Amino acid sequence: MPKKIVVSGIQPSGKLHIGNYLGMIKNAVEIQKEDYKRFYFLADYHSLTERYDPKAKRDEIMDLAIDMLAAGIDPKKSVLFAQSHVPAHANLTWLFNTVISVGELSRMVEYKEKVSQGHPANAGLLTYPTLMAADILIYNADFVPVGEDQRQHMELTRTVARNFNNRFGKTFKEPKELHTKNPRVMSLNNPEKKMSKSQPSGCIFLSDSPAQIKKKVMSAQTDSHKEVGYDPQKRPAISNLVEIYAAFSGMTTAAVVKKYKGKGYANFKKDLAKLIIDSLKPLQENRKKLMKTPKKVIKILEDGAKAANPIANKKLAEAQKKAGLI
Ligand code: AQP
Repeated sequence: MPKKIVVSGIQPSGKLHIGNYLGMIKNAVEIQKEDYKRFYFLADYHSLTERYDPKAKRDEIMDLAIDMLAAGIDPKKSVLFAQSHVPAHANLTWLFNTVISVGELSRMVEYKEKVSQGHPANAGLLTYPTLMAADILIYNADFVPVGEDQRQHMELTRTVARNFNNRFGKTFKEPKELHTKNPRVMSLNNPEKKMSKSQPSGCIFLSDSPAQIKKKVMSAQTDSHKEVGYDPQKRPAISNLVEIYAAFSGMTTAAVVKKYKGKGYANFKKDLAKLIIDSLKPLQENRKKLMKTPKKVIKILEDGAKAANPIANKKLAEAQKKAGLI
């Protein structure tokens, strides 16, 4: 039986938060125990679709590589590389842009949201999902560890595969998303919105100091009830905090609620802050060590690209041939 294939990427577009960690990175790390073939990449091309400072981009890319390694992505077990170092991704995107309509792309919620927030509506932002489809389909991925916010893009990825296969013959596999128990961590100060880099005040970043984490948790939104409870529909703010507690402690949400029965929010928040601080400590220590060896990090990415390029080029050549190119 050929090994199942796992592919996922993260954009180097700012500091990572616990939403990225609990929604995707934790899964990407844990899945290293399975007998899969894994490809993890820094989605640097994707990150260029937003307004950015080219002078800061290099540091953002290095920072993300360091964060992924510090969180436990092991280059001996997973192929880790930068998207732009494997040109076949962008090349395949061109073919995919011919099998999907502008209407379908412009209906993507993320595209509409970003444009309404004032992001430049460049063609890259519109075709972001076809690049994402290429990133995934080029490795014949079976599973994609992602947060719930990527559901629509994953559906489009499957549509691209189906459209291409229908037009040119069976070439691509339709992949499935792999969610953690926390596919949608909500903002600390707005439980209606997901935790998102573009709303930094509602985020706990993986690099936050203990004092910053404590301050953010103690001032996180709750509700007018007096006791910790779990009801995501009626009490979304406290339920989000309970879910974060459960994720970092390994407890169930019911066990968390039971533990804090009869105790006030302040007690719960103090413990939650300590739990997050202690959980992020090993990652932060790894990060400090890795920051001292940037050449080693670059070498890991170079080796990753060396491993990914032949696989991606082979699939691209297959798709080009099917599409009638010589
Ligand atoms: N709040 C979240 N809960 C669970 N998973 C999340 N992810 C992002 N936010 C949450 C997942 O993290 C992975 C990497 O995401 P990305 O590189 O696409 O970054 P992003 O979605 O751009 O992250 P942000 O913070 O939401 O940035 P902005 O504000 O720019 O949109 C993905 O698997 C994603 O699902």
